[in-house]
Amino acid sequence: MLPDSSPFSPDQRKTLDSLLVGLDALQRGWLSGYLAAGSAAPAAALAAVSAGKLTVLYGTESGNSEELADRAMKDAKKRGFKAVMKNMADLTPKDLEKEENLLVIVSTWGDGEAPETAISFHKQFMEADLKLDGLKFSVCGLGDTSYEKFCEIGKQFDTQLEKLGGKRIVDRVDCDVDYEDLYAVWFASAMTALAPAATAVAPVADPVFAVASEYGKKNPFPSEVYDNVLLNGEGSAKETIHVELSLAGSGLHYEPGDALAVQPTNCAAMVKDIVNAAKLTGTEEIVVKDAGKKLLADALREDFDITALSKAVLKKLAVAAGSTTLEALLSDDAKEELKDYIEGREIVDALLDFAPNGLSADALAGIFRKLPIRLYSIASSLLAHPDEVHLTVAAVRYETNGRVRKGVCSTYLTDMAKAGANVPVFVQPNKNFRLPADGNTPIIMVGPGTGVAPFRAFVEHRAAVGSTGKNWLFFGDQRYTYDFLYQLEWQDFLKNGNLTKLDLAFSRDQPEKVYVQDKMLENGGELFAWLEEGAHFYVCGDASRMAADVHEALISVVKNYGAKTREEAEEYIENLKKTKRYQRDVY
Ligand SMILES: Cc1cc2nc3c(=O)[nH]c(=O)nc-3n(C[C@H](O)[C@H](O)[C@H](O)COP(=O)(O)OP(=O)(O)OC[C@H]3O[C@@H](n4cnc5c(N)ncnc54)[C@H](O)[C@@H]3O)c2cc1C
Ligand SMILES: NC(=O)c1ccc[n+]([C@@H]2O[C@H](COP(=O)([O-])OP(=O)(O)OC[C@H]3O[C@@H](n4cnc5c(N)ncnc54)[C@H](OP(=O)(O)O)[C@@H]3O)[C@@H](O)[C@H]2O)c1
Ligand SMILES: Cc1cc2nc3c(=O)[nH]c(=O)nc-3n(C[C@H](O)[C@H](O)[C@H](O)COP(=O)(O)O)c2cc1C
Repeated sequence: MLPDSSPFSPDQRKTLDSLLVGLDALQRGWLSGYLAAGSAAPAAALAAVSAGKLTVLYGTESGNSEELADRAMKDAKKRGFKAVMKNMADLTPKDLEKEENLLVIVSTWGDGEAPETAISFHKQFMEADLKLDGLKFSVCGLGDTSYEKFCEIGKQFDTQLEKLGGKRIVDRVDCDVDYEDLYAVWFASAMTALAPAATAVAPVADPVFAVASEYGKKNPFPSEVYDNVLLNGEGSAKETIHVELSLAGSGLHYEPGDALAVQPTNCAAMVKDIVNAAKLTGTEEIVVKDAGKKLLADALREDFDITALSKAVLKKLAVAAGSTTLEALLSDDAKEELKDYIEGREIVDALLDFAPNGLSADALAGIFRKLPIRLYSIASSLLAHPDEVHLTVAAVRYETNGRVRKGVCSTYLTDMAKAGANVPVFVQPNKNFRLPADGNTPIIMVGPGTGVAPFRAFVEHRAAVGSTGKNWLFFGDQRYTYDFLYQLEWQDFLKNGNLTKLDLAFSRDQPEKVYVQDKMLENGGELFAWLEEGAHFYVCGDASRMAADVHEALISVVKNYGAKTREEAEEYIENLKKTKRYQRDVY
C-alpha cells in the first residue's frame, strides 16, 4: 500500500495500489525509490528477451502524450518488444484489428474533447464496429483535474476498447498535469503484465530526468524580460501585453507555431489569503516534493496550485478538515450542487467555507497539486529577433462571489514580469501548427484577440526568408481605436508586401457585432479561390466559441463558392485537415 504521505490523491493511490499488486518485488523496490527521489531511476543492463509486438498509440495536442509515447516505445524496445509508436492523426480505427499489444496515451482538450489531431480518429473509433478479441490493451489518460470532464477521452477509449473485445491488461490511469510518476507506475505495470520475464529488470534512466544541464520541462530557463508593454490604448476594456524575453545563453530554439511554457509564481496577496484562511502564519516549515524543506509561504508562492478549485481538491479538503458538509456535497447525488459550488470559486473560498477552524501546515499543503505551467503561442520569429521570444498575453481578471479574481500566469506576466525580471520558461514545440514547407504556398490566418500571436511569427518568418507566397490575415478585437494589436507592424507589412491582405473585424465599433467569420463570408469567393490555389488555412485563439464559428464559416464558404453540398464541403475540409492544410491552435 502506498502511504498517505505519497504524492497522490486518494483516488490515484487506489489505482496505484491495484497496479502495484502486479509488480514483482524487484520492480516494486525500484519504483518506490524512484517515486521517493522523483528523479533518476537507476540504469541497469537489460535482458535481451523477445517480448513480442507492441504499439504505443497516442493522441496529443500540446505534445505531452507524444513525448510519453516516445519514451514508452524506447523503454519497451529495451525490454525486447518490437515497439512502434503511432499517432491517431495518421490511422483509422480499422488499423487496430492488426494489433496484438496496445498502449494508448491520450489527452483531453476543450470541454472533454479529443485533442485536435485525434478528433477524427476518436469519433470514428467510438462509432466503429471492430473485432478486437485478440488485443491486449491499457490506457493512460492525460488531463487536468481542474476541468470537469477530467481525462474524459482516456476513459472513453478504455471503455470502447473493452466493448470491442479487447482485454485490459492493467487498469487505466487518469493523470493530472503532474503526470510523470503515475505514468511511470502505469508503464512499469503494463510491461510486467505483457512480458514478466522482460520487465524483471530496472528501466533505463529516462533522458528527461538524466539530462539535468539542458533547459526544458524539468529545468526551465530563467529568461530575462527585455520589455513588457501594454498593447491596448487608454480607455480599452482589454489588457493585452507584449512581452519580450531573452533566450541568450539558453540554447533554446523554436519555430513559428511553437508555444512557450511559462512557470508562474502565485501572487503575494493570494498567498496571504490562503495562509489567513487556514489560520496559519506562513512561517511554518513543510516538506515539498523535489524541493525539500521550505517555509509554507514560499511553497505556496512557488510550488503549489493554490487557486484552481476542483473535485479532487475538495475531496482532499473534506478529509483534511473532517467536514461532513463537504462530504455531503461530494456525494453522488449532489453532482449538480457540486458543479454550482465550484463554478466561479477558488480554493480560498472552500477553505473559508469548509475548514472554519483552520488546518495544520502539512494538512494544508496536502490538498494542493503542483503549480502547472501555462502555454503561450510564440509571437516572434527567431530570424527577426535572434535570441528572443515574444508573447502576446491577455490578462484574465474578473469578479465572482464578491471577490476580485485574477488568472495566475497572465497576471504574473502583466504585473510581475517587468523589464529586468526573470521568468522560468521552456519551449513546447507544436508540430501541428507549421508554415507550409514551400514558401510559395499562400496562407490564410484567422487570429482574433491574442490569437494573432503566432501569425506575427509566421509573417516575420516569411519576410525574413523572403518567401513569395501570399499571406492573408483576418484579425479582430473589440475596438479599432484601442485594440488593434500590432497595428503599425501590420500596416508596415502590408506596405512592403509581406502581408497581402488584411481583413479586420472590430466587434464593438457598431451596434451589431462583427466577427472574423463575418469577414470570411464577405470575402468567400476569394477565400475559396485561395484554397483552390493550395492555400493553408490557420486558426488561433478562443476554442469555446470562435474556433467553432470560424469552422462553420469555412464550411459555408466551400459550400457556396465551390458549388458543393454541405456533406461535400465537410469532406473537402476534412481533406484539408488530413493534408495538414487546415491547422488550429485553439485554447
Ligand atoms: C497552446 C496554447 C496557446 C496559448 N496562447 C495564448 C496566448 O498567446 N496568449 C494568451 O493570452 N493566452 C494564451 N493561452 C492561454 C494561457 O495558456 C492561459 O490559459 C491564460 O493566460 C489564462 O491563464 P491564467 O493562469 O492567467 O489563468 P488561470 O489562473 O488558469 O485562470 C483561468 C480560469 O479562471 C476562470 N475564469 C476566467 N475568466 C472567468 C470569468 N470571467 N468568470 C469565471 N471564471 C473565469 C476559468 O475557470 C479559467 O479556466 C494559450 C493556451 C494554450 C493551451
Ligand atoms: N470562453 C471563455 O471563457 C473565453 C473566450 C475567449 C477568450 N477567453 C479568454 O479571454 C482572454 C482574452 O482573450 P483574447 O484577447 O484572445 O480575445 P477574445 O476574448 O477571444 O476576443 C477577441 C475578439 O473576438 C471576438 N469574439 C467573441 N466571440 C467570438 C466568436 N464567437 N467568434 C469570433 N470572434 C468572437 C471578441 O468580440 P466581443 O468580445 O465583442 O464579443 C473580440 O472582438 C484570454 O485569456 C482568453 O483565454 C476566454
Ligand atoms: C484549453 C485546454 C483545455 C483542456 N481541457 C481538458 C479537459 O476537458 N479535461 C481534462 O482532463 N484535461 C483538459 N486539459 C488538460 C490537458 O489534457 C493536459 O494539459 C494534457 O497534459 C495535454 O496533453 P497533450 O500535450 O498530449 O495534448 C485541457 C488543457 C487545455 C490547455
